[in-house]
Amino acid sequence: MANVKKTIHGEWSSRFAFILAATGSAVGLGNIWKFPYITGANGGGAFVLVYLLCVALIGIPLMMAETMLGRRTRQDPINTMEILTEEAGADKNWHYLGWMGVAAGVMILSYYSVIAGWSTAYVLKAFTGSFFDADPAVIKAIFDDFVSNPLRLTFWHSLFMTATLMIVVRGVNNGLEQAVRYLMPSLFGLMILLLGYAMTTSGYFDGFNFLFKPDFSKLTGDSVLTAMGQAFFTLSLGMGSVMVYGSYLSSDVSIAKTSIIIATADTFVALLAGLIIFPLVFTHGLHPDSGPGLIFKTLPIAFGSMTGGWFFGVLFFIVLAIAALTSSIALIEPAVAWLVESKGYSREKACTQAGLVAWALGLGTVFSFNIWSDVKLFERTFFDLIDYLTANLMLPVGGFCIAVFCGWIMHHQHSEQELNLGQPLGFKLWMLLVRYVAPLAVFLVFLHVVGVL
Ligand code: PHE
Repeated sequence: MANVKKTIHGEWSSRFAFILAATGSAVGLGNIWKFPYITGANGGGAFVLVYLLCVALIGIPLMMAETMLGRRTRQDPINTMEILTEEAGADKNWHYLGWMGVAAGVMILSYYSVIAGWSTAYVLKAFTGSFFDADPAVIKAIFDDFVSNPLRLTFWHSLFMTATLMIVVRGVNNGLEQAVRYLMPSLFGLMILLLGYAMTTSGYFDGFNFLFKPDFSKLTGDSVLTAMGQAFFTLSLGMGSVMVYGSYLSSDVSIAKTSIIIATADTFVALLAGLIIFPLVFTHGLHPDSGPGLIFKTLPIAFGSMTGGWFFGVLFFIVLAIAALTSSIALIEPAVAWLVESKGYSREKACTQAGLVAWALGLGTVFSFNIWSDVKLFERTFFDLIDYLTANLMLPVGGFCIAVFCGWIMHHQHSEQELNLGQPLGFKLWMLLVRYVAPLAVFLVFLHVVGVL
């Protein structure tokens, strides 16, 4: 029988609303800001290939798994894991998986909000014409000067965090569904336009080759881990966001189809971002491995010299900030849903508390680019460390455990019933992927990183 449980937070109004919201969660800074700079730092093509393989073989099956788990209980991730553990008669420790997901969401949001704040600040820079006719050295100086001031970064970080909380406090249906409806198409449109511009630059083929021509000699153990971590990060996997969005999903929607649509759209945007940014990097003699500032040092060059650049520049950074907003909402929702369900908090109180923790933690990232830029642990700044810890460790470990839970612990008739794939072959294939392929792949990558393999 279909699931008759109801969530206390409200349901997505339609299948399309869910696809938009989940795509909104997936498409964000991970695609446009992070994918290009880590691809640049990890040598290009071979890294991209590993990333694509991870999306297909681990990402899609896990997205199905997480949506399915959330929809089965219609509770927040911590309660979900508790209920399902009990249902399967398994060890109670499994519910720590829900905890880790909630914690990872708040930790990622802490730095996500800082970078989204940069994008918001860049709307203003574009608006006031800072990039007009500026050469790459000037654009770089603008960025370096911008991040050198901790108070300024704190201001934009606080502003973005407040915007996130103001949306989350209003709940599932109001505002969010409406916002993504217009945002996603304009994001696609604008990026296609920028691609058109990138194709006219002299570095287009170098950029294209950098992205798609694999050079395996550039692949290290750590870059394989980073590629896998990025697949988790970009699809919002391994940390409870997809679970909580799944818990608001109506029972008659096909989880397999929506997962494939979401993952494809997400991958498309990431590759598009690479195809826009690397040609600019090569045309202007910049370095692909120039780190987290990469898009802020490259795109303004295009906006400063192309026809209509003022308009497109303003629009681009607005769209990027909103794309980040539809992801940051998903990052904090697991914590908020849990505080409401388990602590009996009002949504306001839950948002304030979770938001304050994320905001305070975010100051560490703010300072990593100025007063703490020399403070390093394991050769990493606070920002690098929290990014590594969440994207490269917590998300893959979370995903590994979810795959093991679905493949080995949960009763198969329960997952089969909830996934409702329509044909037994589809379920068998999914089971093969979550039972063997996904856990083994994550495990092997970890062995490789610690040097055993
Ligand atoms: N997927 C988002 C991005 O690529 C980040 C994110 C991770 C959002 C985890 C929600 C949960 O920008």
